[in-house]
Amino acid sequence: MKKSRILSGIQPSGSLHIGNYFGMMRPAIELQDKGEAYYFIANYHSMTTLFDADQRRRNTLDVALDFIACGLDPKKSVFWKQSDLPEVTELTWLLSTVTPMGLLERCHSYKDKKARLAGDDIDLVNHGVFAYPVLMAADILSFDSNIVPVGRDQKQHVEVTRDIAIKFNNQYGETFVVPEPQILAEVAVIPGTDGQKMSKSYGNTIEIFGEENVLRKKVMSIVMDSRTPQEPKPDADKNLAIQLMKLVAPPAVASDFEDRLRAGGLGYGDLKKALFEHYWNYFAAMRKRRAELVASLDHVHQILREGAERARTQASAVLKRAKQASGLL
Ligand code: TRP
Repeated sequence: MKKSRILSGIQPSGSLHIGNYFGMMRPAIELQDKGEAYYFIANYHSMTTLFDADQRRRNTLDVALDFIACGLDPKKSVFWKQSDLPEVTELTWLLSTVTPMGLLERCHSYKDKKARLAGDDIDLVNHGVFAYPVLMAADILSFDSNIVPVGRDQKQHVEVTRDIAIKFNNQYGETFVVPEPQILAEVAVIPGTDGQKMSKSYGNTIEIFGEENVLRKKVMSIVMDSRTPQEPKPDADKNLAIQLMKLVAPPAVASDFEDRLRAGGLGYGDLKKALFEHYWNYFAAMRKRRAELVASLDHVHQILREGAERARTQASAVLKRAKQASGLL
């Protein structure tokens, strides 16, 4: 069987939290052993919503550090910054000419944003927001990738990519590999400190990396109810600290805490203290690795540069193929 070519982009949206880790990074890192993995930091996509240059620069570096610290291995994967490949934006134009407006008008991300920003902020619905899926199609098609692991919110964009690839192939002859979306199992949606899905926009995140005291406070702020420690809690499996404990503690330890909570006698404060310890340990080696990376930023920049070089070799071959097919060469 043909080896899989896995590709995914990560938006540089600031420090990553444990919801990102279990929902997206860990699966992406595991996929490194299942095929040729191509991962990039989608800084062009971030321009559709983030307008602060310094912030983008910082976020981009932060995501690179977080990913490498968490196990992205530049020997196994190709890892780069989207904007280092002009080929991708060039291909975006070719693709845009076979993309019906209606296809983009149907995209949820665009429709939702338009509905949300109607009124005063309508100017934030810029052309980039609308054309976003075409750039994403160029990302995907530039590498002949056949597997695209994404969160559920991005599935429609991969479907649009398929449509665009098929349109181009029909118009100009077989040029692109038609990719498959692979929806990352959202580990039963990671809850944040308030019980909603963990997300930056809800302000309920626990970051992977950061100041110990700040993070301890966040863990201790996880919302509990007002039952006394002694009361038995038949719904112990629904407890937020227990749910998070299952991700960061050995299974036997997590189920022991769950049993004790169910039986009564375990206080919420003690439970959260234990959760903090396990969470802190879980990321200890990655924290150490990240500190080492911060101390040798040249090395990180070099990883991204080398990744960009390797990625460019692929992307320029595909671009050439598309230019030939469409009569530009
Ligand atoms: N739009 C994706 C997100 O916000 C990021 C992304 C950009 C991407 N290009 C991609 C994901 C190509 C997969 C493939 O999460």
